[in-house]
Order: sequence, then C-alpha cells, then structure tokens
Amino acid sequence: MSSKHAWKSPPSKAGEKFLGIRVLALLALAFWAVSYILWNNHNLPVVSLRQTTLSPYLVEELRQKCSAIRMEAGPPESFNKRSESDRYVPGTPAVLLRNATLWTGGGDDQEILYQTDLLLDRGIIVSVGNDSYNHPSIRKGRQRLQVLDLDGAWVTPGIVDMHSHIGDDPSPSLRGAEDENSVKGPILPWLRSLDGLNTHDDSFELSISGGVTTSLVLPGSANAIGGQGFVIKLRSTAEKTPSSKLLEPPFSLNGSVYQDGERTRWRHIKCISAGRVYGGSRMDTYWAFREAYDKATQVKKEQDEFCAMFESNQLHGLTSRFPESLQWESLVDVLRGRVKVHTHCYEAVDLDALIRISNEFKFPLAAFHHAHEAYLVPDLLKKAWGQPPALALFATNSRYKREAYRGSEFAAKILSENGLKVTMKSDHPVLDSRYLLYEAQQAHYYGLKDHLAIASVITTPAQVLGLDHRLGYLRTGYDADVVVWDSHPLALGATPRQVFIDGIAQLKNQALSSKPPSFQKPPRVPNFDKEAQETIEYDGLPPLKYRKIDSVLFTNVAHVFAFSGKTIVDRLLEYGSTLGQVLVTNGSITCAQTVCMTGVPIGIEVVDLEGGSINPGLLAYGPDIGLEEISAESSTNDGVVLDPLKDRIPSILGGEGSLIRAADGIQFGGRDLLLASRAGVTRAVTAPSHSGFWGGLSVYFSVSAVHRLEAGAIIQDAAAVHVAIRHGARKPSVSTQVTALRNLLLGHADGLAGEYFKRVALGKVTLVVEVHDLNIIGTLLTLKAEIEEQTQIKIKMTISGASEAHLLAEELSRAEVSVILNPSRPFPTIWEKRQILPGPPLTHQSAILKLLEHNVTVGIGVEELWSARNIRFDAGWAAIEAGGKISKEQAFSIASLNLEKALGMSPVADFVATRGGDLLEMNSKVVASILQRRSTVELHFATDES
Ligand SMILES: *[C@@H]1O[C@H](CO)[C@@H](O)[C@H](O)[C@H]1NC(C)=O
Ligand SMILES: *[C@@H]1O[C@H](CO)[C@@H](O)[C@H](O)[C@H]1NC(C)=O
Ligand SMILES: *[C@@H]1O[C@H](CO)[C@@H](O)[C@H](O)[C@H]1NC(C)=O
Ligand SMILES: *[C@@H]1O[C@H](CO)[C@@H](O)[C@H](O)[C@H]1NC(C)=O
Ligand SMILES: *[C@@H]1O[C@H](CO)[C@@H](O)[C@H](O)[C@H]1NC(C)=O
Repeated sequence: MSSKHAWKSPPSKAGEKFLGIRVLALLALAFWAVSYILWNNHNLPVVSLRQTTLSPYLVEELRQKCSAIRMEAGPPESFNKRSESDRYVPGTPAVLLRNATLWTGGGDDQEILYQTDLLLDRGIIVSVGNDSYNHPSIRKGRQRLQVLDLDGAWVTPGIVDMHSHIGDDPSPSLRGAEDENSVKGPILPWLRSLDGLNTHDDSFELSISGGVTTSLVLPGSANAIGGQGFVIKLRSTAEKTPSSKLLEPPFSLNGSVYQDGERTRWRHIKCISAGRVYGGSRMDTYWAFREAYDKATQVKKEQDEFCAMFESNQLHGLTSRFPESLQWESLVDVLRGRVKVHTHCYEAVDLDALIRISNEFKFPLAAFHHAHEAYLVPDLLKKAWGQPPALALFATNSRYKREAYRGSEFAAKILSENGLKVTMKSDHPVLDSRYLLYEAQQAHYYGLKDHLAIASVITTPAQVLGLDHRLGYLRTGYDADVVVWDSHPLALGATPRQVFIDGIAQLKNQALSSKPPSFQKPPRVPNFDKEAQETIEYDGLPPLKYRKIDSVLFTNVAHVFAFSGKTIVDRLLEYGSTLGQVLVTNGSITCAQTVCMTGVPIGIEVVDLEGGSINPGLLAYGPDIGLEEISAESSTNDGVVLDPLKDRIPSILGGEGSLIRAADGIQFGGRDLLLASRAGVTRAVTAPSHSGFWGGLSVYFSVSAVHRLEAGAIIQDAAAVHVAIRHGARKPSVSTQVTALRNLLLGHADGLAGEYFKRVALGKVTLVVEVHDLNIIGTLLTLKAEIEEQTQIKIKMTISGASEAHLLAEELSRAEVSVILNPSRPFPTIWEKRQILPGPPLTHQSAILKLLEHNVTVGIGVEELWSARNIRFDAGWAAIEAGGKISKEQAFSIASLNLEKALGMSPVADFVATRGGDLLEMNSKVVASILQRRSTVELHFATDES
C-alpha cells in the first residue's frame, strides 16, 4: 500500500495525464483563462503580452514553486497513523518481544516499562504493552510471527549516530573510495555526501553489531561549507544501492515534488567554522560564509518578490522564469529554516563567529559538532538565532589539536545542566561507531544523568535530526529499529543480543545471553561536581596536581589486587568478605588485613575507600606517549625519527648505525599524561615517533613525574628495540623491510644499532615489531626461526598492533612471541588490518581471549595519547566481553604485567587506590597512586573533598 505521502512526479510536459489528476490544476487553468481574457480586454502592452503566452502548465509549475517555498519542514501530521513503513520489506516476519525491560525514550524517569511486550510488524512498532499478543495485526497471520522471550532483557530504540562518514570514508580505507572531502573551494553547499556513499564498507556490519541503526553521513571538514549530509539506515538492502539506504531523503533529490499542503523533508548541511579552512585564515573563512549567505539571501529575496507578484496577480511585472539557482538552492533552504545546519566548531572564537552569522542572516543552527569549548560559553549558545543549537560531542577524545585542547570530559554534564541538548557522536571512522554507546557510558561516568546519557545517542539525536516522529522512541507507529541488550545500556561492555532495523533482524548469531544481575542496572558513578566546577573556573585547563604524602591508611577496602610472582591475586580475600584496611608507609603496602590500626591513627592520613580497592597500577604502551602534547601542533611534539630505508642519515648521527632513544625526547607534565595518572596509569613505554621502518629504543617512565631528574621519573631509558613493518605508498616494499631486519639480526650493522641488534640476536634485548598483517607476521616467525636455527639462541620477539595475529595464535604461542594488541578492540581501518576478530556478538571470542587461550602473552596498547586514560575500561571490557573466561586478575595483567613481559622489562609493583569499586569498573574513582619505587603516595582528589 502506498502511503498518502507518496512522491509525485513533476507535471509532465505531455500534459494529458496531468490534466486528468488535479482539480487544482484545473483551477489554475481557469485562473489563467480568466486572466488571459482580462488582459486581452484591457489591451495590455506588448511586453506583458509575452506573459499571456505562458502555457497553463508553466503557470501551474509556478504556482507550485511559490507554494513550495512557504512549506515548513517536518513530517505530515498524520505520520504516526501509518500502518506500514515506507521502508518495509514485504515478507519480513512480525516479531513479538516478550517480557522486556523497555527504555522507551520517554523522558525524565518516565521512560522505563518493566516486563512489557513489544510487537514489530510491517517495519514499525505496532504495539507496546502486555496485550500485544492479541493485537489484531498478528491474529491474522500468526504463522509469520516470531516470538522472543526476553526474560527481562533491556530493549532500547536503535542508536542514532549524528556525525558519521560511514560509506564516504569506507573501511578498509582505499584511495579509490575516499569521498569525504572536495578540495575545490571553501564554499560547496551543492555537494552531496550521498554521491560518495560507498556500499562496500566493513563498518556497516560492525556498527550494527554495536546497536547503531541510523547515521547522518556528513561530508568531511576541509571546507567552510562542505556539502549536504544524508541520513541512512545501516542495514543492507536487496537493491544494494546507496539510495535504498536513505531515510526520508529531501524531495529535491530526484526531482520529486510533494503534495500541496504537505511539508518538505528536513535537509542537512555540513559547515566548518574554524581557522585554516581551505587554506585561509579565520577572517577568510567567515567572509566566505557571509558572501555565500549574502548570495543566498539575494536569491531568496528574488523568489519571495517573484511569488508575491505572482500571487497578487501583478502579472505585468512577471518574467516567466522562477528565480532559482542549483548552486545556491540548499543555502536558500537554510534561510527558509528547512535545513539542519550541522557545524563543526570547537572554540569560543568560532562558536561566537557562527552565532553572529546566524543572527545576521537569520537562520537556526541545529548543532555544533565537536564543540570542545561549548561548555565554557553556554550563554553564548542561547543567543543563536531561533533556538540554541545542540552539541554533538566526544566523551574523552580531546587535545588532538589546538581547538580541542580545552576539551573536557565534563562538557556533557555541564552543558546539560545549562539546559542544552547533548548528543554523543562518533565522527566514524575517527571513533568506531560500533562503540558509540561507550561514549554515552563515559559521559555518564563523568556526570551526565543516566536517562540523558542513553538519550544522547538515541532520542536526542533523533530530535536534532528532525526524525523524532519515527526514530528515538519505543512507541506505536515508530520505526521498528530496536536493540535487545545483554545488560543495562550504561553498563560497561553492553552488547546487543539482537538488532532490528525496519523490523528485520540483523544479527545471525543470537547465542549471546544476558549478563549477570549486577550488569542489569546503571553503574553507581562517582561524583565529579568539584572537578567540573574547577574546569569551568580555570577556563578548561584546571591544574592537574596531586599531593605527595609518605604514609596513608586506606579504610573500607574491598579488594587488594596484589602481585604474586608472575600473576595478580586478590589478597584481601584471604581475610573473608568484610571490608579491610590497607596501610601504606613510605609508598609501600605494609599491612593489608581486616584491621591494620585501631583507633584514630596519629600523624597518618586516613582515606575511606567506601568499598573500593587497591589495584595494580596500569602501564600505557603506544605511540607518542610522553613525546607530544597536541598531536597536530609540531611545536609541541618531539617529531619523527629519520629512517635509513628512506632518508639519508647524517654521519653526525652515526650514519646508518644510528639508533635514537625516546628517552632523549621525553616530555613530562603533559595534560594527557596527568589525566592518565588520575585514571590509574602509573607508567608508560613509548618508542621514538616513527612513520617508517626504523623505530629506536623505547623508554619506560613514570607518567606523573614533573621532570626527568626527579627520582624514579625514568624507570629504564633504553627498554626495547622497535621497528615497524607495514605496507604503504611512501614505504619501501615489505620484502625490503624484512631484508633490512634480517641483516640487522645477522649482525650487518655498525654503531649503536649494530650493538643493540647483536643483543637482540643473543636474546638479551626484546625486539618489538609493529605489524598487523597476517602474512608479515608469518614471515617474521619464519625469520625468527631462521636466525635461531643459526645461533641456537632464542630471540625475544613481540608483535605490536597485531590486528590479524589471532589467525596465528597457535604459531605465535609455539614461537613464544608475545602480542600487544593495539587497539585492544580491533577495527579494519586499513587493508592490512581487515581480518579482525570482532568479538561478541559477531564472533564468540575476542582476539584477546583467543590469544590468551593459546597461552600467548597478551598486552593491550593505546593508539593515541588521549586514550591512555581509558586503559582501565579497555581492560575491564576485555574481561566482561569474555563472559567469565578472563578474570579480573588477568584483565589487570594485560594492562600491566603482560606488557612488561612483552617489552622485556622487570615488573614494577605500583598500586592505585580506587573509591567505590575497583579500577576496571565505572563505579569507582581513582584517589591515589601508591608508588613504592618512588617511596611516595600521590593523592589525586581525595583529601580536600568534603
Ligand atoms: C506487564 O505485566 C507485568 C506482569 O504482570 C507487569 O509487572 C507490568 O507492569 C506490565 N507492564 C505494563 C506496561 O503494563
Ligand atoms: C519476566 O522476566 C522476569 C525477569 O527475568 C522474570 O522474573 C519473570 O518471571 C518473567 N515473566 C514471565 C511471565 O516470564
Ligand atoms: C524519488 O525518490 C523516492 C525516495 O527514494 C522514491 O520513492 C521515488 O519513487 C523517486 N521518484 C522518482 C521520480 O524517481
Ligand atoms: C620513611 O622514609 C624516611 C626517609 O627515607 C625514613 O626516615 C623513615 O624512617 C621511613 N619510615 C618508615 C616507617 O619506614
Ligand atoms: C595453555 O597452558 C595450559 C596450562 O599450562 C595448558 O593446560 C593448555 O593446554 C595450554 N593451551 C594451549 C592451547 O596450548
């Protein structure tokens, strides 16, 4: 059945069909006829006689055009009375979800329905409630009905990603499909992301497996106006085309027109309000905006004047052409308030500039994306024309460029407390949209209220996109985009058990069961009011200081995860289930039992952990940790080492035998390092920054040290030898890189490099090879065996990166090669990472679990400096995802002991005290680092809190 809001073809030139269908057309014809007669009777001058030759069809077209410019955007009023979705695929069985816990999107604490049924049929939700089974729509066709008994499982509407480049920047990334940006000018409102939407993107399946059902695909950020965005549903379609993925595409797209009296559909446009857009300065960018909007204003004015004359019968002034411009029509629509303007905009200077422009040209802004400084200027946002824009944020991804330097994890909390709409977004593939819900979980952890956090990736983006008449709620008449979760959606590691898009089940493997009861409620997150307040006070750069003390008594401790030889054990368990005490003297744990000190200890600070834990301190391993401050600002970074396979190495460096030490370029005191230290990371290992084969010697250091001369700042200044073997256009062939490594291991190098590779060959120093590709890993194992055969000495080799290492788990185990997975949750960004093991719900095992089960020493790394603070959750998630097959103790190990083993370093027994829970959970807050090797305790937040 075609809906009442069906597309209509424009009036056909042939005319006859047209005459038959529209009474209005007849009226127009009559109007024209009367006018014609009137003019003739008045003996109009020649110039106007030209008008009289207008065909009735043209007059009708003009009437439609003039009516269309006044239409408002939005759904027809009767939309939710539909009995079938326009995206319904005939043959899709009806699905009854029984006994679910529904998060309906309903708003403040009203949104949850317990033990309720949900019926999906014909692409929509046809019934919400316990009488769904008796709904007339299934009485007729029960044989087609699938019933899923959910036993109380959480069910939400599908996740809506408000900022994605899925399809336009497909994965794995290949040059033939990079369609995100045009480089043809600063103002390109006529471009359309749809034109570059590639259907071959591994992300579609991956993101669906994370519960994402809808995405706004925006052009990239190379231009001030980058082009039009399109909303798609991620599921594959029988047509296999980009167009068939579209959700409510604008009528202008294929020349359709809407029925009279109806509304237009929302359109979307991507703007970039920032400096250095398309090579210009900020002043150039904003002039480019104003010039473009001025142009559009002219076109709009001509249209309005034309139609005013047309409609008031002042036909003598009329030329036959409706003033329009294919180039500027989308901006004219912006001025008519029918386009959601999505602006990539970070800093106060840019937020202010665009809000000025919105007021100058009088158009509303739908959202500021990224918006890292928005929380510092909430009152400014309220001054935007029409309505305050929503904010589309990352949770903790900040400081990667200057504009993001003041980004805060408290932004979502602060903005929502100012009454502004907050959404979390992926910018996929910048963040893998499969984990968009994790952004909401982090925002919740840092203070965004629980219902707003869930809404921030479901209901709020649906509202901002103008699609909340069909997305973002579990309500009768809404699209059957529904996710069944294995836990409460805000519990770390929440994973879909099934995802429906347009009522069609997307996951083939439905083996995933619900998690234990502790996961079925949101985490009891810590209070960060004071930190948030301080962040505002210090204009986004609060001092990240800590207080050093020698001794402290921790009380109400639930667990002590301590090192015992090569493993980690829970010490306090020895003392039964009651909460205990832990005494730290001069940085060392000297007592851990039910009672260490009776009465009020004198001269010793007491910190109540409220059921928290003493945890192993974590180790951050990854590129550029401690070597950069703002990734995109070279003046804040150490820089990249020269590569003998590409560059001529000056003799002053020792020629080809030079080997650079990361320790010589280390930068202490960076914000990301200090934030990592507040999140349980006590130390880090990094190799010199490199883009090619040649790495250098890594450094092992304390993340909280103020400078390198402080005691214990550098733990080991020449830790392991690092090289990378990767594919790439500006790299010598893989076989060339392998040959270089072979020759180095055979002792063909001079200088420091020769010395170190000799030690590698003798098994005394660890060789870390960054490599993702299965074939290269295979070659390395062969090379290792070849050298060992000659020398009869075992080489210590570690593979880092290792996206495809799971395919050689057995071989790596046999060769005793350790693996550092980086990232810990894989994503096929490039070809050599495409064969990932995605983990639940797509595969039973994650790569971490598979390697561990093969007895491989596994550690996890961080890809970018800002994410070092999230290692605690990465490790916790790895354990949760394994469904009990990875213990907490093992999870701590993959981010501490195992990394030390893989990097060939002796273990460092740092500890971290957490209040409210353990370090791997979202209900705890780090209060202290306990650093025996530096004979000190660093108190992060605890002491001056009331
Ligand atoms: C459905 O039935 C259950 C059990 O009888 C009840 O607890 C629940 O509140 C009902 N839900 C609704 C939405 O009426
Ligand atoms: C619904 O699920 C809850 C929670 O698991 C369970 O206690 C209850 O017995 C279930 N009700 C029915 C009718 O199956
Ligand atoms: C235009 O696109 C819509 C939506 O995809 C489709 O329903 C309609 O048939 C198309 N019309 C024409 C004339 O191609
Ligand atoms: C702590 O260290 C200081 C300085 O090294 C020393 O004087 C003191 O005796 C130590 N205290 C304990 C309890 O070991
Ligand atoms: C891993 O090690 C354990 C204990 O040594 C052993 O029982 C198991 O068979 C090993 N697994 C594999 C796949 O080698």
